[in-house]
Amino acid sequence: MGADILQKLQSLRKQRNAVILAHNYQPGLIQDIADFTGDSLGLSVQASKTMAEVIVFCGVRFMAETAAILSPQKTVLLPEPSAGCPMADMIDAGQLAELKSKHPDALVVCYVNSTAEVKALSDYCCTSSNAVELVRRLPANRQIIFVPDKNLGSYVSQQTGREMILWPGYCPTHARIMPADVQKALHEHPDAIVLAHPECRPEVRKMAHQQLSTGQMLKFAAKSPATEFIIATEEGILHTLKKNNPGKRFYTVSAHAVCPNMKKISLEKVVWSLEDMQHRVSVEEPVRTRARRALDRMLEVLPS
Ligand code: 13P
Ligand code: SF4
Repeated sequence: MGADILQKLQSLRKQRNAVILAHNYQPGLIQDIADFTGDSLGLSVQASKTMAEVIVFCGVRFMAETAAILSPQKTVLLPEPSAGCPMADMIDAGQLAELKSKHPDALVVCYVNSTAEVKALSDYCCTSSNAVELVRRLPANRQIIFVPDKNLGSYVSQQTGREMILWPGYCPTHARIMPADVQKALHEHPDAIVLAHPECRPEVRKMAHQQLSTGQMLKFAAKSPATEFIIATEEGILHTLKKNNPGKRFYTVSAHAVCPNMKKISLEKVVWSLEDMQHRVSVEEPVRTRARRALDRMLEVLPS
């Protein structure tokens, strides 16, 4: 890593009064230079309470949009404007409106991996770390529509015993993880504990010892007396898992568990974004205020 570019980054982040947030799936170098790393919920909390004037979001568009909705007075920058989430784009506002019209009495819960327009049409937003608790709190006599992730939805359904109307969206990166990958990894590391993200397909989740969000995986690995772990989620998280737990071993379940959009952010792009104050992400009214309501309800359900 060039010392010059790092120096430039340090002086720019000071000059702009910027905070750099990085998701756990970001390239290791980006996680290392960030002020905060975390899962979707943790980063939303940081975005909502930061005193900085500029938020550089090292992640994908829906995350930067979430920050812009929560902190409209700040400048939110996404270093690579094409970094999107294919799952978030699997449902649009028109499709959700149509689904709602078929179930007019249902409450709508959307995964944070969704567009601002979809959040604006939802009653609640959730992340993988608080979805179960949030759904548990919903009135038992109401139907629930859950969008867009059918895998997280089925996980929440299993955990809460609530039947939900699921949208058939999914994460293409997690969908690449197959039961045969888990089997192979367990054959190679028979004593390892398998941690799977709820975005994984049900057949894979069934083989896991624990089903956890990325933030929960970090906490679990730190506390667990086990020393070997097979990680069934995007490989970026192995960087921090290894860094935080030097005495333990972590194996990615599959070489294909890579999100190409998360890997579009580079150190150079972070520096350029601060230099040029690009690429700004904002959410216009009335969508922002409506989406904010669902996000505020998400932030009310924080893990203890
Ligand atoms: P979490 O970090 O909240 O578990 O989210 C996973 C994810 O897919 C983000 O895109
Ligand atoms: Fe979207 Fe999956 Fe990439 Fe997360 S890992 S940003 S859900 S495509």
